[in-house]
Amino acid sequence: RKIAIFASGTGTNFVALVQAIKARQLPAQVVLLVCDHQDAPVLQRAQAFNIPSFVINFKDYANKAAAETAILAALQARDVQAILLAGYMRIIGPTLLAAYPNKIINIHPALLPKFPGAHGIEDAFQAGVKETGVTIHFIDAGVDSGPIIAQKAVPVLPTDDLDSLETRIHATEHVLYPDVLADLLKKGAL
Ligand code: GRF
Repeated sequence: RKIAIFASGTGTNFVALVQAIKARQLPAQVVLLVCDHQDAPVLQRAQAFNIPSFVINFKDYANKAAAETAILAALQARDVQAILLAGYMRIIGPTLLAAYPNKIINIHPALLPKFPGAHGIEDAFQAGVKETGVTIHFIDAGVDSGPIIAQKAVPVLPTDDLDSLETRIHATEHVLYPDVLADLLKKGAL
């Protein structure tokens, strides 16, 4: 399968996915990184793996539909069949949803439907829950909604501060996302 990864920031999940595909010889190829910030660190990570990037500046477009039409052209030019969101901080609009029905997956650092939104780890920590985690789900038109594919719980320890919890959540993400990808590929669900 030809896959595009969408990311806005650091790109540790991007790296985990690319490395897992290689190490586990998964039948998938990351053919494009789509990034909406021209100085995001994930761009250098893609370059290090020789994966091409499509950088999109939403401010250059009249609206989301116009920007997504440009993204779609880049995806279609590379024959992309599925999209993995990995820290992509925008809501996917109708243009991309219609082009990739049930083929866009997101990772969220909380146990959805609890703590959706941009600050899932912090919100769970502030709420004082004993357990949070990671969710991987298909996306729909909502924010962090859509059918859940897999979840993994992560305990919040009495000794945790936000940093230590974040570290444990990210480590869980880097295992769960490749596992789910492998599973979906095996099932032919991507
Ligand atoms: C991850 O915690 C992901 O769940 C969230 O954004 C973060 C991205 O981290 N949506 P990275 O860019 O993959 O390092």
